[in-house]
Amino acid sequence: MNFDEELRKKTGEVEKILGMYLPEPEGFQSRVLEAMAYAVSAGGKRLRPLMMAETAALFGGAGESLSCFMAAIEFIHTYSLIHDDLPALDNDDYRRGRKTTHVVYGEDIAVIAGDGLLNYAFETALRAFGKAAALEDYQRIEGALNILGKKAGVYGMIGGQCADLVAERPEAEVTEETLLFIHENKTAALIQAAMTIGAVLAGADEKAVASLEKCAGNIGVAFQIQDDILDVTGSTDVLGKPVGSDEKNHKLTYVTMHGLEESGRQVEELSREAVAILQSFDRRNLFLEKLVEQLIYREK
Ligand code: IPE
Ligand code: IPE
Ligand code: MG
Ligand code: MG
Ligand code: MG
Repeated sequence: MNFDEELRKKTGEVEKILGMYLPEPEGFQSRVLEAMAYAVSAGGKRLRPLMMAETAALFGGAGESLSCFMAAIEFIHTYSLIHDDLPALDNDDYRRGRKTTHVVYGEDIAVIAGDGLLNYAFETALRAFGKAAALEDYQRIEGALNILGKKAGVYGMIGGQCADLVAERPEAEVTEETLLFIHENKTAALIQAAMTIGAVLAGADEKAVASLEKCAGNIGVAFQIQDDILDVTGSTDVLGKPVGSDEKNHKLTYVTMHGLEESGRQVEELSREAVAILQSFDRRNLFLEKLVEQLIYREK
């Protein structure tokens, strides 16, 4: 099977899992449930759950609890996009090839749809305990929950979004260090969560988990630099979201600081380092290595 085919198949499996855990719109809260489903089912690359499952495979695979965390991380990522697009933040009208949630459902419902997904993510992750059989499973799930909470929160994604928004203000002084903090947190933190949760659920040891955190940190920073490149060079049709969003918001990015060429070089270097870490474990996962390599040249 070639890589593209395998990617399509694996992405389809993620879609099935999401469908399984996504709540049905019904009752007096159906409007918020509809908005949550609208944002999740719009698609997207499903990169985080994919990377979680592939990292678990690198360590011999995880049990049934994995699917709960795969859904949870995509719910958290999707909520972060709903809120990121709001007029109070980046004010963007398109996402995943569709009108953004606030354009369709109104800002009020979009805010609580984001809240709903964040909370439901933890409700979903907690269901993993119901699938645990041995003490070891409970301990791994507890470890995974700690990672998810931290990396999605103020010491992770939310912290990065905060620094990103503060850096947009006219009086802000944005240094190289600020920019790295933003990338490592607003974007890399959830990718780190994805990969390290996969590893923890599969029983990887502490040393391996620490290496993976570094590996995913590189992937995440490269991913955001590429996102900023595509914001300049990409097309709305391919990306499924507006281009020029950063310029509109007067956002200083790696691209404005170092130019397109140097940014492209950074993406490549960080990704190659990440692949080298993946190759350093006893087992190999060639699909995962290829996935990381492909992200260097991604156009969406
Ligand atoms: C977009 O993430 C937000 C960033 C962190 C750059 P993705 O590019 O993974 O978005 P989807 O999930 O494919 O829509
Ligand atoms: C946002 O970064 C990362 C999130 C935590 C949502 P961007 O604002 O650059 O993401 P896009 O370009 O809107 O997807
Ligand atoms: Mg943003
Ligand atoms: Mg944005
Ligand atoms: Mg962007």
